[in-house]
This record gives sequence, structure tokens and C-alpha cells, in this order.
Amino acid sequence: MHANKHTNSNFTLTGTFVLSVFTAVLGSLEFGYNIGVINAPQKIIEEDYNATWVHRYGESIPAGTLTSLWSLSVAIFSIGGMLSSFCVGFSVFSSRRKAMLINNMFAFIGGSLMGLSKLCRSFEMMILGRFVIGAYCGLASGLTPMYVGEIAPTSLRGALGTLHQLAIVTGILIAQVLGLESLLGVADLWPILLGLSVVPAVFQMALLPFCPESPRFLYIVRCQEHQAKRGLRRLTGRQDVSSMLAEMKEEKRKMDMERKVSILELFRSPLYRQPIIISILLQLSQQLSGINAIFYYSTSIFMKAGVQSPVYATIGAGVVNCAFTVVSLFLIERMGRRTLHMLGLGGMCICAVIMTMALALLDSVPWMSYISMLSIFGFVAFFEIGPGPIPWFFVAELFSQGPRPAAMAVAGFSNWTANFIIGMSFQYVADLCGPYVFLIFAVLLLFFLIFTFFRVPETRGKTFDQIAANFHQDSVGGMMDMDMDLDKPSTELDYLGDESIN
Ligand code: GLC
Repeated sequence: MHANKHTNSNFTLTGTFVLSVFTAVLGSLEFGYNIGVINAPQKIIEEDYNATWVHRYGESIPAGTLTSLWSLSVAIFSIGGMLSSFCVGFSVFSSRRKAMLINNMFAFIGGSLMGLSKLCRSFEMMILGRFVIGAYCGLASGLTPMYVGEIAPTSLRGALGTLHQLAIVTGILIAQVLGLESLLGVADLWPILLGLSVVPAVFQMALLPFCPESPRFLYIVRCQEHQAKRGLRRLTGRQDVSSMLAEMKEEKRKMDMERKVSILELFRSPLYRQPIIISILLQLSQQLSGINAIFYYSTSIFMKAGVQSPVYATIGAGVVNCAFTVVSLFLIERMGRRTLHMLGLGGMCICAVIMTMALALLDSVPWMSYISMLSIFGFVAFFEIGPGPIPWFFVAELFSQGPRPAAMAVAGFSNWTANFIIGMSFQYVADLCGPYVFLIFAVLLLFFLIFTFFRVPETRGKTFDQIAANFHQDSVGGMMDMDMDLDKPSTELDYLGDESIN
């Protein structure tokens, strides 16, 4: 066999490659910032809603109306995300770079609406702004992992995919810190806090023109071999890119034999049914793990858990969140996606049970507040080991170039819908169940753990083409190889070799 001459060659990290990944994940940073930004300044923004109401109607806003307006301001973000994430499916026609560029328009409009809403005495502007910025985030949550997955060498696809989540959690942490009362979390400054979301958009727009378009997209979808080669050369710093092109050629050859893949087709075709079900369930495992119950309502959860300074505990959770995403970044290419995802789900499940016990015992055993705080930190840490980063890039891995945008759309839509459901319903369910609310998540986590064990294959070190072939084998009645990568050498198609950069 013609052994892979590149398999053991070093992957050189070029400036263009670093710049391209950095620029793409600015979208993820923006996403995270807008998840985290709304938590701390809730009370002061509500006061301004009230001031507007008094200005308009000469009386205080009724409590119920204020709660509804606030819930809407929080949740409409996910509706924007839900609607726009579906549009990622249409990006099959457009270049990834152009789509990211155009998407920044939403960030501008959204950030400006929110930043100017106080000045214009309009909570409608704030709500609309949250919707529009949600739309930005929905598109970014599909476009970023897709672009990064497409330009990444096979051996680093997981580690680079995790950068999307790392940028999200960094965005959350920045927002939590800037939202402190000693910084921007005060009556006069909250418009700046919210308006700051235009900053990553400005940077992304300035940098995108220097990033090459995804060579996979250029070659496989647009058939522009020359441009694809040029992009590959810029990204890898190598003149000889023939082995990389050979891999894309193989993927293109297979793709040309298939019909165009629409969203419906994903569910109808036996070839795609299994990977799309896995993609949806992985997204659900991320959201229904209950992570956003923590990130949206941490302050009140910590308060109920008897923690003395809930705002700082929230920031503590943000720090744990970042730290463990970095841990995952280093483990992902060593331990594989499947193992880390199961480890994360299992750990979260145990932490949820401990948290429940601690909350239930809080009245009789005061030091249980420490246990509940630690179990919340543990819950967040295990989330970032697997269920946080993995679902985002796993979908891009499970599908070849043709069905990828449609699959990202379906997966993104499932993620955002579940996100919306948790955001809207958690407080009601928590009121109903008291300290036992996290048991619901424990049961769900157990279910997702079992599902992952039986249905989710390993994709580490495999080319897109090999992953698709594995599902194909399964769909025609063969057995799917769950551990398809373990200790097997990467093949001749592993176009950039399996040396990692660390
Ligand atoms: C993931 C989730 C997001 C969550 C975040 C927490 O990115 O998609 O909803 O808030 O992780 O770190």
C-alpha cells in the first residue's frame, strides 16, 4: 500500500491557520458573552423597565408584567438562535467566510439596540436587541464549528473543535466579571455592558478578509481546485498539498454519487438516519443536562444553597467552567470523544445526586452549603470535560461535506430549542420540586450516558470519509465499529499526519 508519507510529518502551525481559527471563534466568544451578560444586572435593568413604565403611564409597572417582560428579554435570545440556526442549512450555497461576515450585521444591530435602549427609554428595543443578537449566535453556533472543522487537520479536529466551546466559556466569564457592581453592573453603565457585544463583531469583520475560505468547501462544493489549493497552501505553509487534495477528491467522488441532501433527506435516508439521531441526542444531552439552569439562574441557586456571596460563587463557576474546557482540550485527542462524553455525563449525574442530597439536608446540617457549592462546581467541571465541547464539533465530524450544513442546522435547532425550554421552565419546575429538581437532570443524564455507550461511535483520528463509511456499513446491515479509532494507525487519508502541536 502506498503508505502515507505525511502521516508522521509534523503539522506546522502557520500564522494564517492560527488567525483563521482565532477569527472564527470570535463568533463563539460573542455567543458566550450574550449567554452570561444577562444574569448579574437583572435587578438594575428591571428598575429601568419600571422607570420607563412610570414615564409612559404615570404608575409603577405591575409585578407580573415586569416578570413577563424580563423572562421575555432572557428567553427571546434562544428564539432568535432557534430560528437562525436553521438557516445554517442554506449556507451550503454560500461560502463560510461570507456567511460569517454577513452574520456580523446581526451583532451590530443587536448590540446597538440593546446599548441604546435605556437612552431611548424603550424596553422593546432591548427585547428586539436580544432577539437579533440571539439570531447572530444561532448562526455562529453552526458556522464556527463548521469552518473550524473543515480547515482543521484530522489529527487535531477535536482539540480545535473544543476551542469553540473555550471561546464560549471565556465569553461567559468576561460577561460575568464585567457585570460586577464594581465594574459595569450599575444603573448608568449597563447599556455599555450590553452594547459591548459589538466589539467581537468589529474584530471579526476586520480579520475575516485575511482568512482563507474553507478549501473543503471550495473544492468539494464549488469545484474550484485552484482556489482550494491556494487556501491549503496558505493554511499549511506547504507547497505540496496533493495528499490533502487526494482526501478531498475521495470525499467528493463519493458525494457526487449521492443525491443532494435536504433536511428531510437526512431523516429518510438510512445512510444519514443514524448519524442525525446521534447528533440530535448529543445536543439534547448537552442542554438537558441542566447546565443552563446553573448559568441562567446561578445566583438564586447559590442563594438557596446557603452560599454567602452568590455573585462571587457564580464567577467561581465561570472560572471552573473555563479551566475544565482547557482540560478537555488536552484530553480530547488522547482519550477520544466517546470516553470523555461518557465520563462527563456520569460525573454530572453523580454531582446532581450529591447536590440534591446536600440541598435536602441544608436545614438540618448547615455545612451542607459547602457540599452543594462544591457539587455545583463539580457539575460544571464534568460538563466541560465532555458534554460542553463535544456535541458542537461532533456533528461536523459525523457528516461529509454534502449533508453537513443540513445536519448542523438540525442539530443547532435541537440545541437551541432545548436551551429555550430549560430557560423558560426551570424556575417553575424548581419552585414545584424544591431541592429535588436536579434529580430530573440526573435521570436524563443517566439516559444519555446509556445512549452514548450503545450508539455513539468514536471519531478520533478518522477522516470525514472514513466516518461516513462506518455509518454506511452499518446501514447496509454490517456492524458499526464503535471504537473505530482505538490504537489503529491513522490511514493514508489522514491528510496532515497525527503529530499534535503540543
Ligand atoms: C455550551 C452550551 C451553552 C452553555 C455553555 C456553558 O456552549 O451550548 O448553552 O451555556 O456551554 O458553558
